Amino acid sequence: MSITENTIQFVKEKLKNAEAGHDWFHIERVYKNAKKIAAEEDCDTLLVEISALLHDIADAKFHNGDENIALEISRDFLETQNCTEDFIIDVLYSIKNISFKNREEVGDNIPIELQIIQDADRLDAIGAIGIARTFHFGGFKNNLLYDPEILPVTKFNKEEYKKSNGTTINHFYEKLLLLKDMMHTEKGKEMAEKRHQFMLNFLDEFLAEWD
Ligand code: ADP
Ligand code: NI
Repeated sequence: MSITENTIQFVKEKLKNAEAGHDWFHIERVYKNAKKIAAEEDCDTLLVEISALLHDIADAKFHNGDENIALEISRDFLETQNCTEDFIIDVLYSIKNISFKNREEVGDNIPIELQIIQDADRLDAIGAIGIARTFHFGGFKNNLLYDPEILPVTKFNKEEYKKSNGTTINHFYEKLLLLKDMMHTEKGKEMAEKRHQFMLNFLDEFLAEWD
């Protein structure tokens, strides 16, 4: 079996009981979109594939904020595979830096393989799937759907967000609507366009029905 097939089996097994927003199907969608984007870029395809597959192996949100667990699990697995130390280091770098939360630390000048998996992960956070995942997460947190008293926070701003009580509709304004303009690759930008428009339509409908 190839390292990609082994990784698929490993991740499926690891995520057997994962919640629906970050389960194997999320990984599979990100993996497929990452391959689609990679096909149009000059990049290390294997690095893209393996990083996409391992990128949510242990979400820090569910491990008391410990981001190192995912890196340790990934390293232990990759060491059982026939790959070089350099490859392991590159995969761990990608996994560590894919997150929206870490974006400022990484800066603009990032490797193409990280650009690709970041785009692929962001595509799964927007559009119809993104809407479903967001309400799923809001339900899990028992957040309000929406509160008309709270003005939408239009920038990612921690202070404003604290005041907002974290309604699920607000998550569109603090994050999801910003993602389109943060896409790196041409293919990613193209795919994000339709999904972004769909979210705008959804918000129009939602707010019209609310009123
Ligand atoms: P990242 O890993 O890119 O930093 P997260 O893991 O925080 O992003 O978020 C992944 C997905 O979980 C989001 O795209 C969204 O669907 C959902 N999510 C995260 N935070 C919230 C929130 N406060 N309200 C609703 N959904 C959320
Ligand atoms: Ni993800």
